[in-house]
Amino acid sequence: MVGAKPGMARNEQYDVPQKVSAGNFCTRVIAVTSGKGGVGKTNLTVNLAIALGMAGSRVLVVDADLGMANVDVVLGSRSKTHLLNLLEDGTELSDVLQEGPYGVRYISGGSGIEKAAAFTYEERQRLMGKLSACAELADIILVDTGAGLGKNVMDFILAADEVVLVTTPEPTALTDAYAVMKAYSMYTATKNLKLVVNRVYDEAESREVVAKLQQTADRFLGMPLECLGYIFEDSAVMRSVRQQKPFVAVQPHSVAARCIQGLANSVLYGSRMTVKRGWKGFLKQIFRF
Ligand SMILES: Nc1ncnc2c1ncn2[C@@H]1O[C@H](COP(=O)(O)OP(=O)(O)OP(=O)(O)O)[C@@H](O)[C@H]1O
Ligand SMILES: [Mg+2]
Repeated sequence: MVGAKPGMARNEQYDVPQKVSAGNFCTRVIAVTSGKGGVGKTNLTVNLAIALGMAGSRVLVVDADLGMANVDVVLGSRSKTHLLNLLEDGTELSDVLQEGPYGVRYISGGSGIEKAAAFTYEERQRLMGKLSACAELADIILVDTGAGLGKNVMDFILAADEVVLVTTPEPTALTDAYAVMKAYSMYTATKNLKLVVNRVYDEAESREVVAKLQQTADRFLGMPLECLGYIFEDSAVMRSVRQQKPFVAVQPHSVAARCIQGLANSVLYGSRMTVKRGWKGFLKQIFRF
């Protein structure tokens, strides 16, 4: 059993659990993003959520891919409500929080959230107020963003304390990943972006991709770039998408599932910067408070 106990945060340097009061800075907010679409963000997010849950963490997934929200499709679940229903009187967090299979809790973003900053003060307060309680329900919040450099994607990755950038080894995916790194480095002072290389055929291929992007990040952006891990090309992923059953849950011994378990360990025990804003800071930035 690994992972922080509910209500406990880890001392970043020594990994000593610290007691913190509920709902404050202890919740980690990790945005999962990519430059190119279709590189595996949603599968990574959902399967990582399951692996982290198995390791003892309380995880919440926010489906913030507003164009093509499909966390529920990968999970084989169906959400009838979404985040913006919280604007309605009498709709509470528990009404939009879906208890998906395999212990995955998630919230669908729903289209319209990209206009969040244009909502009235009262509307933004209402959403903030109701959503704030997520911090008490989760140790880690994974935000599945859309691909690319759209304003709403950038909003999410700039508001999150940690960003996981997914790419495949394809040159087009690498070019687009670099564009995200560049935009990220321009707009944020806290450079906390980590790479996941998906669909690699062997470790050497992953090392090559990471070295290429690290050199470019270092040379042109002056930005440190860590690699969180890689995921092998595995037909189990496609099969699990077709069956709408996440591979970590139904094929835990597949190579892709074992890679995800490795990634979960990196998330829990790898180096990370001190969490600065947490979930409330994330919401404040999204809703412009
Ligand atoms: N490691 C892998 N091995 C084999 N196939 C994979 C792997 N990862 C992803 N795929 C394939 O890529 C497809 C797209 O994955 P996914 O939907 O997770 O990408 P995405 O980045 O979320 O896409 P979008 O940008 O449209 O949201 C999957 O349905 C699967 O067929
Ligand atoms: Mg997706």
